[in-house]
Amino acid sequence: MSAIPTQSVAKPLLLTNIGQLLTLKDVAGRNEPRRGRELLELGILQNAAVFCRDGKIAAVGSEVEVGARATQEMGADLRVFDCRRGTLLPGFVDSHTHPVFVSPRLIDFEQRIQGNTYEEIAKAGGGIRSSIEGVRNASEEELASTVLRVFEDMEREGTTTIEAKSGYGLSTDSELKSLRAIRRAAQQWPGTVTSTLLGAHVVPEEFQQRPDSYVDLVCNEMIPKAAREKLAAFVDVFCERGAFTIAQTERVFDAAQRAGLGMRAHVCQFTPQDLSKLARFEPASYDHLDCLTDKDLQSLAQQRTIATLLPGASYFLAHSYPIARRLIDAGAAIALATDFNPGTSPTTSMPLVLSLACTQMRMAPAEAISAATVNAAHAVRLDRQKGSIETGKDADLAIFDTKDYREICYWFGRETCRATVLKGQLAIH
Ligand code: NIG
Ligand code: FE
Repeated sequence: MSAIPTQSVAKPLLLTNIGQLLTLKDVAGRNEPRRGRELLELGILQNAAVFCRDGKIAAVGSEVEVGARATQEMGADLRVFDCRRGTLLPGFVDSHTHPVFVSPRLIDFEQRIQGNTYEEIAKAGGGIRSSIEGVRNASEEELASTVLRVFEDMEREGTTTIEAKSGYGLSTDSELKSLRAIRRAAQQWPGTVTSTLLGAHVVPEEFQQRPDSYVDLVCNEMIPKAAREKLAAFVDVFCERGAFTIAQTERVFDAAQRAGLGMRAHVCQFTPQDLSKLARFEPASYDHLDCLTDKDLQSLAQQRTIATLLPGASYFLAHSYPIARRLIDAGAAIALATDFNPGTSPTTSMPLVLSLACTQMRMAPAEAISAATVNAAHAVRLDRQKGSIETGKDADLAIFDTKDYREICYWFGRETCRATVLKGQLAIH
């Protein structure tokens, strides 16, 4: 699975004076998502340093040894960054975001405060459909500058890899324009972006009477065109009452498979669904899972598909939270992401998501960190390059002004990320 290429030249960099270094390295050296108790293993090193060269991690280990090697190899070319005893960890992988929209949805917001539900508001013409016109009328450049601002806001909170979806254009032209805007923004941002076509977000008004013809359009036009132009690595579907059925999701996944794209789906957000028909596609991720049935929970635990939990959406909709503890105990591989979008989760902050995961879903801070790094990297199939601090992986790091890693989940609404490293490039906030 590929990410959008960026052109960036990073100077060799040595990170020193680290308090806790969370490597997230697998003790057994496997490259698998973490399940059960493995989520608690952060691979913490003390008195360690990280040496980054050519955008990769060249060495990680004892401060004395790594420091000596970096100085010897690079001499005066080496940039040294003092972490001031802060916490160093892999940059967050935000594996589920919808950044291509024009306006916040303030009418929906006030209506929900008055007691209307997300589904009621959507049925009455609000919701996703009310974001379409803005995107259709915007130029690719305008959308790209909005998206870039989102990427930069995410980065200031420690995110270095982002999965970004289209999904508010809902015509072939506007979906492709949204994906081009993501690509354009990604080329101007030193972090890593992987994009997803979400043409099957809802049925737009003009297809209201013939939803299957809209699915035809997604399958026969949007997916092949996005694949041909290499604009997306994944195809996503909002599989839910009022959006798309399991049968329609199967059709979209079939088309994605034919086009050589990966698959992911929004499932069980408001209503339980039978996921067994989707298992044969082995999607990279199922996202939300707020209303998972017991049967699907047991079966998910046996699958390679990542269960991506999005507590920001539960918080913003004042909805029940996904059953993280039961998923973990059953052995499912879970990830955490922001679900940044104008309707259900307008947050760019992974630390806030981690805080919600701990306080509302009873995840331990260590579990939340594993879910937001190594497992989220698996959710976007970038696990060979991202998600842990190991020699040869991309130099994507976050430095927090905290003595103890648990503080990353403890403080909320307080920005403690001091700097990020994006493919070897240092950004001090
Ligand atoms: O992940 N559920 C579908 N998609 C988004 C909501 C999008 C919107 O309301 O604009 C979600 O919650
Ligand atoms: Fe979403």
